[in-house]
Amino acid sequence: MTTRTLVITSSILGENGQSKALAEHFTAQAQGRGVEVTRRDLAADELPHLALAELGSWQVSEEERSPEQRELAARSDSLIAELRDHDVVVLAVPMYNFGIPSQLKAWFDRVMRAGVTFRYTENGPQGLVEGKRAVILAARGGQYAGTEMDTQTPHLKLMLGMIGIKEVDTVFAEGLAMGEGKRDAALKEARQAIDGLVERL
Ligand SMILES: Cc1cc2nc3c(=O)[nH]c(=O)nc-3n(C[C@H](O)[C@H](O)[C@H](O)COP(=O)(O)O)c2cc1C
Repeated sequence: MTTRTLVITSSILGENGQSKALAEHFTAQAQGRGVEVTRRDLAADELPHLALAELGSWQVSEEERSPEQRELAARSDSLIAELRDHDVVVLAVPMYNFGIPSQLKAWFDRVMRAGVTFRYTENGPQGLVEGKRAVILAARGGQYAGTEMDTQTPHLKLMLGMIGIKEVDTVFAEGLAMGEGKRDAALKEARQAIDGLVERL
């Protein structure tokens, strides 16, 4: 059986986006090995902020939804179905102002849905998206891996873990704004790390 991989990009820098270039490297390597890849570009195909009407649509049973609520709920339903339909999710993540892009947060706001992708039990929350792995490709101007200034990967792992995705590999491309030499070396190292991960898909 081939591994189905969902590659999610969120760089706002278009063709100059480094995380997107790493995602493309991942995709080319994976496809070269016969892995099926679906791309979702959250910057090109933007989701709005999650707001009350959409949240409310999830709380109404399918039969009782108004036409507008059906349309709003379909947004989250289809993103969750897409996630469930893949074995591996690759998140190519730029650091913008010490956080993940709001476009990516808007995606998490649709796929983290109580009663659907996780539920609360007597023993705490239980993830309902099972049997999946994730890869984070983290691109930043500075260098923060392993320090408290890495404000992204702990947050991403918390959100993924909440829905049941606990096996997460991270590739860092850091120091991208710290001179050409540092940038080129970081990107080369990141591409090599990606090659190693793709071999294990
Ligand atoms: C709006 C904006 C905010 C940024 N904020 C940070 C930051 O807080 N820390 C950092 O290390 N780099 C920051 N950078 C640099 C980016 O992390 C770096 O350019 C990285 O390559 C972005 O990923 P991308 O090329 O895939 O878009 C920022 C860049 C932009 C455009």
